[in-house]
Amino acid sequence: MKIGIITPMAEEKIALSAILENTETRQHGSTTITSGTYKNHEVMLTESGIGKVAAGSAATVMIDNFNPDLIVNTGSAGALDPDLKIGDEVIGTRIAYSDVDVTAFGYAYGQLPNKPLYYEADPAVVADFKNLTAGKEGLIVSGDQFVQDDGKKKILSHFPEALVAEMEAAAVAQVATQFGTPFIVLRGVSDLANGESNIVFDDFVVEAGKASAQLLINYMDQK
Ligand code: ADE
Repeated sequence: MKIGIITPMAEEKIALSAILENTETRQHGSTTITSGTYKNHEVMLTESGIGKVAAGSAATVMIDNFNPDLIVNTGSAGALDPDLKIGDEVIGTRIAYSDVDVTAFGYAYGQLPNKPLYYEADPAVVADFKNLTAGKEGLIVSGDQFVQDDGKKKILSHFPEALVAEMEAAAVAQVATQFGTPFIVLRGVSDLANGESNIVFDDFVVEAGKASAQLLINYMDQK
């Protein structure tokens, strides 16, 4: 299998690049992509940086240059669902923008014109990951905001079922969908999207990254 992994964080990239063999690194503008092999898989890895444009751009470069069978977007997220705890793993079955508003023209909140409101992850890959983690599965929302109390209230008023908020997945999902490339989003909860988020984020972001890197390794081990 040919897997393209896009992560906003350096820590996770480090954990994953440590297992790759026969690596080669190429520069595409500001996007650095390391390709290599792990068991019978071809793996491409990039640290996109934070936010929707960085993630969408990295996804475009990755897909157009390497044509992967699957795009995986990993990283951390702030919990919106009150049942989630720091350290929990979440599988995104569908992804929406939390900060898109074209409702003036009759679109649903979160929906861009001529685009779906929800981007659907590949169901077979979701099923595989469900077998590997006890994490919750469901809606992940993305926006160019680090979400704390007020942002959380606003997002939940539009998407009451959203599990976590983060800043990249919808852009990756949109680009993957536009190319017809299957995708999945895996996120570790680094904070509870509240007034303490900016403090606990730094403590838990590394742990969250390592946990999703390990989950991905487990997935590749059984594929
Ligand atoms: N990534 C991790 N925590 C987040 C939060 N609270 N808001 C947005 N992105 C995040």
